[in-house]
Amino acid sequence: MRNILVTGGAGFIGSNFIKYVLKNFDYNIINFDKLTYAGNLENLSDIETDKRYTFIKGDICNENQVEECIKKYKVDAIVNFAAESHVDRSILGAREFIITNILGTQVLLDAVKKFSIEKFLQVSTDEVYGSLPEDQKEIKFTEKTPLDPSSPYSASKASADLLCIAYFRTHKLPVLITRCSNNYGPYQFPEKLIPLMIAKALNNEKLPVYGDGMNIRDWLYVEDHCSAICKVLEFGKFGEIYNIGGNNEWHNIDIVRLILNKLSKSEDLILFVKDRPGHDRRYAIDSTKIKNELNWEPKHKFEDGIDKTIKWYIENQNWWKKVMSGEYLKYYELNYSQKIV
Ligand code: NAD
Ligand code: TYD
Repeated sequence: MRNILVTGGAGFIGSNFIKYVLKNFDYNIINFDKLTYAGNLENLSDIETDKRYTFIKGDICNENQVEECIKKYKVDAIVNFAAESHVDRSILGAREFIITNILGTQVLLDAVKKFSIEKFLQVSTDEVYGSLPEDQKEIKFTEKTPLDPSSPYSASKASADLLCIAYFRTHKLPVLITRCSNNYGPYQFPEKLIPLMIAKALNNEKLPVYGDGMNIRDWLYVEDHCSAICKVLEFGKFGEIYNIGGNNEWHNIDIVRLILNKLSKSEDLILFVKDRPGHDRRYAIDSTKIKNELNWEPKHKFEDGIDKTIKWYIENQNWWKKVMSGEYLKYYELNYSQKIV
């Protein structure tokens, strides 16, 4: 395996992944990205001149573009990050989610088959499992938990996972699936909870908390997700699913209070708003399989990861101020105006 096609590499996790790989391995990376609102080449400005890195603007739903890229760069493996990734946007409109997340994955799987690609890793999410009871802390998602998605986003990711498994069984494709919990860290688009709350607090604007703020997420520092993907890519068994989690459950409201506290801002900035429809109550990952079989564990403690993340958003205000303009403002108005009670 020498040439890795990373789809969606200009987004949050993909760009962190590319930098992680270039720092720790000797692979050539071809970043294939459509550059939607969430794709930003500035995320990669520090490595764009690395000889092992190439950027191609392309759409995973476009068979010709995908095939030309695979032929030209003699791709050996594909890691698929490309997706519409935000639950709230999928509630406002599901179509793009179905097209990119499902159809796009099918196009990639067919290309894997046609060009006998060595490995295909599908980056999936714990959201495919639906919601856990909040009062039974001993219950977590394992790889055997039935799929039970709640949002159009998670339904589209679950569909893509099923396609991957079907191609493994039917066509014996070298497929690997990872399902990770919520990531946080530098370069996350400020529509997701942690960067949105940091940006709002820095701007002294209201921080919109959905429902009672007691929903639980299991937070993982993005670099730990990247190291887990590398482990699965190198040593994972074809046809297998690997859960990746931080063993780090937080109520949303406690995350919001922590951010305000660290920025010395008043809790009066918190604004409880109408709940997200179909809002999953709790996510928590059981990472026993990847720990035992591939010897992976997260390295970052939450206290350090959140400090690093807040520092990055303080030092990179131009980055997030730029992406929180234009199209984003329209989305913000559409999503949040419906939620103010
Ligand atoms: P993101 O929204 O930040 O980035 C998605 C990237 O995909 C963008 O660069 C975008 O331009 C690109 N893209 C979108 N449609 C495309 C298309 N048709 N063709 C080519 N490129 C396209 O997402 P993220 O948070 O970095 O998530 C990456 C992947 O990880 C997604 O598949 C997501 O489901 C999964 N995931 C995310 C999290 C999380 O907490 N963010 C957790 C678990 C899994
Ligand atoms: P998010 O970052 O969108 O990730 P996901 O929905 O994929 O877990 O949201 C994380 C949690 O934060 C989720 O329970 C919804 C909540 N949330 C808010 O309370 N307010 C907000 O403005 C956003 C974006 C999310």
